[in-house]
Amino acid sequence: MKNNNYEDFISTISHELRTPLTSIRGFSQTMLSSWDKLDDESKKKFLNIIVEQSNRLINLVENMLSVTKLQNTKDNLIYKEVSVKPVVDTITTIIKNQYKDKTFDINIDKSVPPVLADKDKFQQILTNLIENAAKYGDENSTISIKAYLSEETVIIKIINQGPEIPKDCYEKIFHKFSRIDNPLTRKVQGSGLGLYITKNLTEKMGGKISVKSENRLTTFELCLPCANIEKQARDKCRQ
Ligand SMILES: Nc1ncnc2c1ncn2[C@@H]1O[C@H](COP(=O)(O)OP(=O)(O)OP(=O)(O)O)[C@@H](O)[C@H]1O
Ligand SMILES: [Mg+2]
Repeated sequence: MKNNNYEDFISTISHELRTPLTSIRGFSQTMLSSWDKLDDESKKKFLNIIVEQSNRLINLVENMLSVTKLQNTKDNLIYKEVSVKPVVDTITTIIKNQYKDKTFDINIDKSVPPVLADKDKFQQILTNLIENAAKYGDENSTISIKAYLSEETVIIKIINQGPEIPKDCYEKIFHKFSRIDNPLTRKVQGSGLGLYITKNLTEKMGGKISVKSENRLTTFELCLPCANIEKQARDKCRQ
């Protein structure tokens, strides 16, 4: 397990920023210089790559900004009732486009009420978790996203098939800049910030997150308070 220091962080971030930027510049330059020689199919392919790489940059910058903001205790969250399914559907559509070999099996129980959350942060949490499942999952495998209600909590599970996370890393992967040092992590890019931010935001919103990785199945379990219970509690406080 690598637990990087500040200099490692700067070099990781620079690398993470440079890769998509180089790719965006390369494909744009090719299109500009060879516009008349390229057929429509190739132009479309190149533009898709530019969009995908821009999305990667946006996610990375969002994560980096969150790290700075997390240290600021005044980081105000805007709580609203947020329906789980539309958020899962939107994120999955974006990630599917980036990881075309993966199948996404979404199963949101009809009884699942909205969660009380900051919508942007909830989106960021799910983006990090679903992206990890796609990024570290086996080629051509299925990622399963389930949600159900358990007492007063909405449980969301993101399950992928792939290399296991060793038990002694269950906690460390949620630390800042932590990545598991294995051939898979060396092959795929990442800054080790995603889960740190995810755990922080989840806990700020009164939720919990945990991981279990056995028999080549990794499950991240996200628990968030459902909206109406929180509302009832707030109403009670006002009385
Ligand atoms: N679904 C998963 N299956 C296997 N390993 C995982 C999974 N999710 C996370 N990991 C491991 O935990 C580490 C930390 O994940 P985290 O999302 O914080 O960082 P990252 O994916 O490396 O980078 P990024 O900041 O871009 O998200 C990863 O580097 C990887 O080793
Ligand atoms: Mg990640």
